[in-house]
Amino acid sequence: MNIKRVLLFLISIMALHPLRADEGMWVPSYIQQKIEDMRGKGFRLSAEDLYSINSSSLKDAIVHFNGGCTGEMISDEGLLITNHHCGYDQIQYHSSVEHDYLKDGFWAMKRDEELPNPDLYVAFLEYMEDVTKKVLAGYSESMSEEQREKLVADNSRRIVSRIERKGKGIKARVAPLYYGNQYFVYVYKVFTDVRLVGAPPSSIGKFGGDTDNWMWPRHTGDFSLFRVYADRNNEPAPYSPDNVPYRPKRFFKINASGISEGDFTLVYGYPGRTSEYVTSQAVDYIANVSNPKKIKLRTIRLGIMDSQMERSDAVRIQYSSKHADVANSWKKWQGEMKGILKMNTVENKRNYEKAFAVWAKGKPEYDGIIGKFADLYSQAEALSLVRDYQYEALNAPEFLFFAAGDGSDSALFYKNYYKPIDKATFIALMNEYDKDIDDSYKSPYFKEKVAKAGSVEKLADEIYDNDSLSLAREFYMATNTFYNSTVKPRLDSLNREINMLYRKYMRGQMDFARENGTGKVFYPDANSTLRIAYGRIEGYAPADAVRYKPFSTLEGIMEKDNPAIFDYNVPQKLREIYASRDFGRWEENGTVPVCFIATNHTTGGNSGSPVLDADGNLIGVNFDRVWEGTMSDIVFDPDLCRNIALDIRYALFVIDKVADAGYLLNEMVILE
Ligand code: ARG
Ligand code: ASP
Repeated sequence: MNIKRVLLFLISIMALHPLRADEGMWVPSYIQQKIEDMRGKGFRLSAEDLYSINSSSLKDAIVHFNGGCTGEMISDEGLLITNHHCGYDQIQYHSSVEHDYLKDGFWAMKRDEELPNPDLYVAFLEYMEDVTKKVLAGYSESMSEEQREKLVADNSRRIVSRIERKGKGIKARVAPLYYGNQYFVYVYKVFTDVRLVGAPPSSIGKFGGDTDNWMWPRHTGDFSLFRVYADRNNEPAPYSPDNVPYRPKRFFKINASGISEGDFTLVYGYPGRTSEYVTSQAVDYIANVSNPKKIKLRTIRLGIMDSQMERSDAVRIQYSSKHADVANSWKKWQGEMKGILKMNTVENKRNYEKAFAVWAKGKPEYDGIIGKFADLYSQAEALSLVRDYQYEALNAPEFLFFAAGDGSDSALFYKNYYKPIDKATFIALMNEYDKDIDDSYKSPYFKEKVAKAGSVEKLADEIYDNDSLSLAREFYMATNTFYNSTVKPRLDSLNREINMLYRKYMRGQMDFARENGTGKVFYPDANSTLRIAYGRIEGYAPADAVRYKPFSTLEGIMEKDNPAIFDYNVPQKLREIYASRDFGRWEENGTVPVCFIATNHTTGGNSGSPVLDADGNLIGVNFDRVWEGTMSDIVFDPDLCRNIALDIRYALFVIDKVADAGYLLNEMVILE
């Protein structure tokens, strides 16, 4: 085949995989570009209803919750709903042996029982604006990537400080889109007096635990309630008993009238990070090297925790939150790997890159990019593996990290520390590091210490049996200094070059698509800024002969009920309500709806995001994705990628019937 025929052939393959509807996390201020498609799929509002700089719009009801999750206003008195797992730290903060709010739940029965949280903030987006010209003022092509970075940082700082001067609680942040082809400034109003209003017991809010995490069918009542407080002028203010509930520009009305498969859905929130436009080598590294290694290391850690947690309730309580943290990514990476392999993404990207390279021939801007990627990635791979082991092995034993600190968190640390777990972890992980990392990249201190002690086990005895803070600190410092001074600078400089190449490649992919008339519209990768994803309620077929329905109900909770299994121990109150069938206005077809899935493209950070219907009313609260679709951070499959949402009616049912906090419903607007 000649080049032209190869190209035509590859383009015809690509045309079979156009960007399918439902993929994408769209920039709210540009949503006009998608509104026709959205309305064709059932949406009934305008672009201005979603995002407006002139008047209030739905975006004014949404917050970035503590920097990592999303939350939304559900009353004109500052009432906020987010996930239980997003409010977990606050619930834990207020918990003690006498008041175990994690275990038993917490409900303020009146305003002055709402609990302030010292470390909690929520940010409302005031506006976003393209500042590319200002950010790149003074840039010239001859600059190195490092000089460019410095210029961008300096210009951004000026933009930010000019804006932040303007008002109380105003915070600005400049973020790159499309690998720095574009820059936006995001301007927020930040509130720090945010109080805990309610949380169900973990046996509802975390029902299914790690067993059901990342999976469908799901029955988790993953929500908690907070209230935003402001000063007398409705402006942000530090906690004060004189503060009053914040009156938001907008809050969501709740649609409790029922939903059906096929209904339009929109998720409006703060997705954290995706990598949809990376090359075949990058995906190959993730699916075939990095994920398998990191999974192996975490499997070891989880195994050690499990064996000790099984033996003692005290240890189980100490380590349950840590175990959940380690297990969350561990489980996600497995689904992601599997999804990438199933989608044949490495091969598909390789074919695409071949076609791109042919197209790029003779175009000075793009010619040779693919070859350069290959070169840079092959240099970066070994270093990336060292980085992965630095974080997942060397730095994983907690005692080391603690010893390296100033000891001020000592009481907190020892409260949840069980030496046999940490020592066994040290031994297992250091042996893996020793075995898997090439000698030339291995910390010389590590080699020397192990040789001197005789073995990793003996070194562990020296550190742990003597509780030697000084040796632990020395170990942590020496291995990190080696990494930071020897490995990291080389990796950073390669990544800088790779990023610069991606900036070109991103433009190239757009030009390539435009010239070939594929009609593909490119959304920027997630970067913890506000985005819109739209789709519909839909089941999926995860395996041969299996098809999942999109709704789960209280029946499923009772089917899973088992007092002997911690994750499935239904609270007695819920059992009683179930037995009496006292479902009140939340009843549907003889039961209560609990969760649903939809085709919205979401990622970490979208937890707590409002799931809206075609009229912009709240039907659910996003909290997870299905395991078979977790590759959506890298490649989206419309057949398998589903977000999981709590049906808002289950939250209302729990507030009303389980918590007897029905008074909270009075401040909501519930459409039935
Ligand atoms: N998988 C969800 C997310 O990535 C929920 C995690 C919290 N729940 C848990 N059982 N670990 O955040
Ligand atoms: N559970 C995730 C979160 O906490 C959401 C996801 O990754 O789908 O943001």
